[in-house]
Amino acid sequence: MGTRERGRATVPVALNTELEKETPVITPVKSTRPLLTMRSVSKNFSNGTQALSDVSLTVHAGEFVSLLGPSGCGKSTALRIIAGLGGVSSGEVDWPSSQIGARGTPEGDISFVFQEPTLLPWRTVVDNVYLPLQLARVSRKDAMPRIEEALATVGLTDFGKAYPRELSGGMKMRVSIARAMVTKPKLLLMDEPFAALDEITRQKLNEDVLGLWRNTGVSVIFVTHSVFESAYLSSRIVVMKARPGRIHEDFAVNEGVDRDGEFRTSENYRRTCERVSHSLAGAMHDAGGH
Ligand SMILES: Nc1ncnc2c1ncn2[C@@H]1O[C@H](COP(=O)(O)OP(=O)(O)O)[C@@H](O)[C@H]1O
Ligand SMILES: [Mg+2]
Repeated sequence: MGTRERGRATVPVALNTELEKETPVITPVKSTRPLLTMRSVSKNFSNGTQALSDVSLTVHAGEFVSLLGPSGCGKSTALRIIAGLGGVSSGEVDWPSSQIGARGTPEGDISFVFQEPTLLPWRTVVDNVYLPLQLARVSRKDAMPRIEEALATVGLTDFGKAYPRELSGGMKMRVSIARAMVTKPKLLLMDEPFAALDEITRQKLNEDVLGLWRNTGVSVIFVTHSVFESAYLSSRIVVMKARPGRIHEDFAVNEGVDRDGEFRTSENYRRTCERVSHSLAGAMHDAGGH
C-alpha cells in the first residue's frame, strides 16, 4: 500500500472480485494537466547562434522522456529553458501543475542533475544533500528524515558522514541525484549525467535511475547522446537535430515492457535500439551529418 501506481487505478484486492462483476474495465487514471508545455519555442543567442527553432513539447506526469541528439543540437539549451534557467526568444513555456514563484518559474517542483556532480568538498554527504533544504530555510533537524530517505533511494545510507574526496565517481553522482531528490520534485532534469563514467558504473546508475523513477513517481527528462542509454531508460524519446536545434521525431518506446535485469539482453531492447538508431541516423542526415 501507499505506492503510487502509474496510470492504473489501485483497487484493494478484496474489492477486486466485486468490482469485476459490475465494472469489467477499470478506466485508467490519466492526469489531464501536463507538467510542462513548450509551445513553438525558439532561442537565439546574441552571437547569432539559433540554438532552438520552433520546439513544442508536452510532458505528462509519469513519463521518462529522453532528449537524444548530436552535440550542439540544443539539448542543454532546451533543458535550461524547461528548468526556468534560461529565457526564450519566442514561444511559450508553461508549468501547469507547478507553483510559480516571483520569477515566473516553478518553485521546488523541478530539480536539475548536471554532468558534473558539483558537490561541495568541505561538506559531508549529508550536508551536501541538505543544501537545497537549507536554502529553503528548513532546519537540519527537520531535514534529516528527508536526507536519509534521499540517500536510501540511491543506496548511500551508510555514507552520510563521508566527504566527496572519499567517494568514487559513481558514488558522487549518486549524492548529486540524492540532492536533487531531497526536495521531492515532480520533474527531474538530467543533462548527460553519466557521460563521464565508465560503462559498468553507467549501467548500474541507469538501473538506479529507473528504480527511482518507478518507486517515487517522479517524471524525468534525460538528456543523452547515447542510443543505448535512451533505449534502456525511456518511455518516450524525443530525437533532435542540429543547425538549428529542433525536434526530428517524438515517439513512445518500451510500452508495457518490464525493464528488469534481463531487459538489456532481450529482443525487445534490441528492437528499441534499432528503432532509435534509425531515427538518429535520419536526424543526422537531415541536418547534413557529421
Ligand atoms: N550561452 C551561449 N551563447 C552562445 N551560443 C551558445 C550558448 N549556449 C549554447 N550555445 C550554442 O547553441 C547551440 C546548442 O548548444 P547546446 O544546447 O549546448 O547543445 P547540446 O547540449 O545539444 O550539445 C550550440 O551551437 C552552442 O554552441
Ligand atoms: Mg549539452
